[in-house]
Amino acid sequence: MPTTLTEIAADTYRISTFAPDFGIQFNQFLVADDEPFLMHTGMQRMFGPTRDAIATVLDPARLRWIGFSHFEADECGALNEWLEAAPQARAVCSFVGVTVNLNDFACRPARALADDEVLATGRHQLRFLATPHVPHGWDAGLFFDETTRTLFCSDLFFQPGDPAPLDTADLVEPSLHAIRAGQSGPLANDLPYTPRTDATFQRLADLEPRTLATMHGSSFSGDGGRALRALGAGIRELLGGC
Ligand SMILES: [Fe+2]
Ligand SMILES: [Fe+2]
Repeated sequence: MPTTLTEIAADTYRISTFAPDFGIQFNQFLVADDEPFLMHTGMQRMFGPTRDAIATVLDPARLRWIGFSHFEADECGALNEWLEAAPQARAVCSFVGVTVNLNDFACRPARALADDEVLATGRHQLRFLATPHVPHGWDAGLFFDETTRTLFCSDLFFQPGDPAPLDTADLVEPSLHAIRAGQSGPLANDLPYTPRTDATFQRLADLEPRTLATMHGSSFSGDGGRALRALGAGIRELLGGC
């Protein structure tokens, strides 16, 4: 599994591992700051390659915060490996995530973040947004780096394959195409459309991100607010009547 590292915004590194068996990328993001922050750990088998990529930027043992969106193997499967490798590291996610999952799963106590709470890591301010069921999972949340206007948007803007690290072209149509295609496969219905979905997309769009850091596929540099409004509208059209 080849792993690459690319700086996509100031102090913000995308660590990408392409998994041929899934046919998709699994991307982690490092904010290299006084208190380094990692967004998702990847699966257990990606711990080594992710750690080695981070080591080209900073000592992985310095990692202080490990954030993720929702409890799944690609979001936090290697959490305990990281907690062992980085003695000062602490997981941060939603209250639901800590209460329902991490209090049992994690080998050290995690920190629950309230909706809209800001985690300061030094030069960067990371705002936590509780986003239940967006992209999926009761415990879901996202992080917005107010310093670089980067939204770490987990499974939103999913694109299959092994595309470029950062793109300025439209990601909305490829993402909607992937959702449409997925609906006829064995992993269908991963994105629920709920009474909260429209308001959540509106809230994310109103952040007006300049970079969208996506877990599967290219990250995006450009008008992130517009992209989020378009993706939300597309999802409503595709799934709202289901
Ligand atoms: Fe997910
Ligand atoms: Fe994912």
